[in-house]
Amino acid sequence: MVVDACSVDSIQDRILDGGFRPLGEPMDVILPDQIDALMAESAVAPTAMPGTSRAPSDLARVSQQLRALSSLNTRLICMEADQPVYGEMVEGVARVMNIEVCALFMLDRNAQQLALEGVAGAEVAREDYRLDLDEMNRPAVLAFLEEYLVHVVNLSETPGVVPVFPGVESVMALPIIGRDGPVGVFVFARREAGGFDHTEVDMAGMLVDQMAYQLENYLLVRQLSSSRDAVIHGMARLAESRGGDLGGHIDRICAYSQLLGQRLLSAPGFLGQVTEEWVSTLARAAALHDIGKVAIPDAVLLKPGRLDDVEYTIMRTHSKLGADILRELMLTHGSFPMLEMGMEVALFHHERWDGVGYPNKIGGEQIPLSARIVAVVDVYDALTSRRVYKEAWSQEDTFNELRRNAGTQFQKELVDVFLKQPEKLEAIQRRFPD
Ligand SMILES: [Fe+2]
Ligand SMILES: [Fe+2]
Repeated sequence: MVVDACSVDSIQDRILDGGFRPLGEPMDVILPDQIDALMAESAVAPTAMPGTSRAPSDLARVSQQLRALSSLNTRLICMEADQPVYGEMVEGVARVMNIEVCALFMLDRNAQQLALEGVAGAEVAREDYRLDLDEMNRPAVLAFLEEYLVHVVNLSETPGVVPVFPGVESVMALPIIGRDGPVGVFVFARREAGGFDHTEVDMAGMLVDQMAYQLENYLLVRQLSSSRDAVIHGMARLAESRGGDLGGHIDRICAYSQLLGQRLLSAPGFLGQVTEEWVSTLARAAALHDIGKVAIPDAVLLKPGRLDDVEYTIMRTHSKLGADILRELMLTHGSFPMLEMGMEVALFHHERWDGVGYPNKIGGEQIPLSARIVAVVDVYDALTSRRVYKEAWSQEDTFNELRRNAGTQFQKELVDVFLKQPEKLEAIQRRFPD
């Protein structure tokens, strides 16, 4: 869409007069490169002190905003792929702009929707808030599709427009343009009619440009790290399939570990040790617990029936072999949290709380928490799954077995927490069947 040929003044007037019109009529929009021209036109300060172009209060406000902007920028630059970036961005922008409602929508390419990823100043359930790309009566959707700034100064008097959040009168939506087109929309809103002044429009444009750059980097890093995780997860599944298991064991172990980890976030004995980020790493690293089985000879790994003593000794080397494989990988390609935790899980998931496990016979809290968790969930999954040599145990029998071994094989507190959510455990089993 092209902005019709008109002077900067007329664009400016139309923006301030009430921008948004129903479909079929010309839109009141400004292109990002027109903002500077608009600002130059409007640089008038009626309350300026003699000899200056701005009032002291303006200078104080600008200086405050610059400080807030600079600290937001520093935070954005330091963000990493695993950290929740959107909420922090929106909070930061709301502070800098001092506007009641700020929201960030990002494109969900698969669903062809704009998903609300962060909001400040409005009570909405973030997970359920999505806009279809054919909802052209939404300023956010229009700004995204047309790649223009959309400014509505009086929503209740602008027919055909549905506000993003209830109870707001002024809305400004700016597209976030990446290298290959729009990737999201930033929405600013306030409860009073009257729209946003030139300084706010300029500031918003500047911030959204900055966001676009940071978001693009963030998305790129996240994409790279999720492909890397997918390759590692695939490698773990491949290793598992060598033992004849093509089912959902690896996915279930990850999901059970995540569930137990999440419950520990609020468990008194684990405060400070377990964080959201740690749980997210565990949920991926747990997949690597039996990676060492790739190096176990077929004659042992695929033997039907019971292993003799020698074979059992060979089988038990899988924990050390797994750690060796992952250590080698980190030495040659660099380390990152998932591989580091994967290595400790692989090495220690057969250690026992009472110190008579293998390979190192360490006990208690000497065993890393990640490996203590995987020890519990691995046995739970082995018992509740059918094998060629046994039927699947009932959940009740499995719970009794875990309780019987709590305090000897497993840390008792972990078993207690794990058994508190039987329905969720069953749901995971249904989600990842063999
Ligand atoms: Fe194992
Ligand atoms: Fe396992």
